[in-house]
Amino acid sequence: MKAVVITGFGAEPHLADLPVPEPGPGEVLVRLHAAALNPFDWQVADGALKGAVEHAFPLVMGSDGAGVVERIGDGVNLFRPGDTVYGQFMNVAHGRGSYAEYALAFEVGKIARMPDDLHFSVAAALPTASVTAYQAIEAARLDTGDVILVNGASGGVGQSAIQFAAHQGARVLATATPDIADHLHSLGADETIDFTAAPAAEQVLASHPDGIDAVLDLISRPGGNGADVLAGLLRPGGILISTNHAADPDALAVREIRGINLSSSPSRAELEAIADLAAAGKLRITIDAEIPLADAPAAVADARSGNVRGKRVIHL
Ligand SMILES: NC(=O)c1ccc[n+]([C@@H]2O[C@H](COP(=O)([O-])OP(=O)(O)OC[C@H]3O[C@@H](n4cnc5c(N)ncnc54)[C@H](OP(=O)(O)O)[C@@H]3O)[C@@H](O)[C@H]2O)c1
Repeated sequence: MKAVVITGFGAEPHLADLPVPEPGPGEVLVRLHAAALNPFDWQVADGALKGAVEHAFPLVMGSDGAGVVERIGDGVNLFRPGDTVYGQFMNVAHGRGSYAEYALAFEVGKIARMPDDLHFSVAAALPTASVTAYQAIEAARLDTGDVILVNGASGGVGQSAIQFAAHQGARVLATATPDIADHLHSLGADETIDFTAAPAAEQVLASHPDGIDAVLDLISRPGGNGADVLAGLLRPGGILISTNHAADPDALAVREIRGINLSSSPSRAELEAIADLAAAGKLRITIDAEIPLADAPAAVADARSGNVRGKRVIHL
């Protein structure tokens, strides 16, 4: 099978021929039709999990994918050949990922059946970005009328978070460049903040001098002061959720702010619920680019350098 692999941490991703894997006990072999790019894919390739987990090389890149069950291993009860499924396929200890024509997943794990009317490209785009957005907005426990800032709203997580927060009845502020502002309004953002014109926190403070209720921070990194500055926008009792481990929950607690560093992992029930929302048109996914597998190495390099406006999908 064709796959995009790396041969070591930091190595250039390239197209390779690998044997089609055999499903072991409890495993499902999926003929993937689509895979989606996420920043975590190249963070892992660069060594984000080095030391924490064993890695096998060549390592197939990628996590998210959608396709059709080809074969099942002993003891598999939940899926049958021919089922359409989607979810996360990254297993670095065995060198496995989703930028490949075939991928293995444990049946009791991070895959779920797809609704009939969901396209493979859309399904592949959901698992990491939309589940993270879903879990973040659940954690925020928003009430109707609460004000939430989504910092980094133009990408995969941000666009879904806008929709989930708006569905809760929150007022949504979204940081983004002007080129995508109209689209984010159409998803449910009430205000967009051009972070290239002036610091986002200054603009939010000017329009909301009494403070806001929640921040979903998809941008700040540990070691910087970005999350701290955004926390300064929150009223006592507010919440700051970081997807990049930039929150300091103990320091925030002193300021009567809940701080959460979210590490999302989808359950089958969450995958099923989100796929149903997407199939019903209640969660809209913007496919930013669709590319063949051979172009995936270039697409990874391109996505690393920015200008991501939704989800980039590989056709397999
Ligand atoms: N902890 C977890 O479980 C988890 C799960 C999913 C994602 N994440 C992390 O969450 C972050 C967002 O993920 P994603 O999939 O949404 O990434 P993405 O699709 O690449 O989107 C990020 C967006 O942020 C924009 N941006 C860049 N700098 C910005 C700034 N200073 N202010 C506002 N917006 C800015 C980018 O625009 P440009 O492209 O123009 O730069 C891009 O549209 C990533 O760091 C990812 O690693 C963590």
